[in-house]
Amino acid sequence: MHNDIQQVLIDEEQLQNKIREIGRDLTEEYKGRFPLVIGVLKGALPFMSDVAKRFDDHLEMDVMDVSSYGSGTVSSGEVKIIKDLDTSVKGRDVIILEDIIDSGVTLNYLISMIQHRGAASLKIVTLLDKPEGRQVELVPDTAGFTVPDEFVVGYGLDYAEKYRNLPYIGILKPEIYKGS
Ligand code: PRP
Ligand code: MN
Ligand code: MG
Repeated sequence: MHNDIQQVLIDEEQLQNKIREIGRDLTEEYKGRFPLVIGVLKGALPFMSDVAKRFDDHLEMDVMDVSSYGSGTVSSGEVKIIKDLDTSVKGRDVIILEDIIDSGVTLNYLISMIQHRGAASLKIVTLLDKPEGRQVELVPDTAGFTVPDEFVVGYGLDYAEKYRNLPYIGILKPEIYKGS
């Protein structure tokens, strides 16, 4: 375990078991439909990579990068597109993959955008759900794990761009982020 981690919340085996299950379910639902799988940079990268490997048919992958206006704990609710999709979503069966839903602001924006652009269907799959963080009403179609209102990192989730490469989800020691 990394020295900055206080506690492992979800270990590598639990993560991979859940991802295999999610991949199986998505395969069953989308087989033969060539879904467009969208990963939200950068946190969703490990999850997207692993879920895609468990999807047993053709799929198309795209990524987009967005940022909430203004940092800090209280989000303005406005989202800016840093990198848009390369692919048109019109008429497509779209699956959005996220590492975590916290306030819900990021996904709330992406959902309206993708619906507005004319997707045939849209499914929200998140590895982690932190319902206590919600500022807008949003319930994912699939959530791998529900996490408490703690500073979780790893498997895509960062603090100051670090820890994304951990193969597990852990709680960061408070001394690492205190004073920031
Ligand atoms: C994090 C996380 C989600 C989003 C969830 O991304 O990866 O995308 O915040 O928060 P919300 O539900 O409150 O909108 P972040 O904006 O930190 O970018 P990153 O993925 O590059 O770390
Ligand atoms: Mn993100
Ligand atoms: Mg981040």
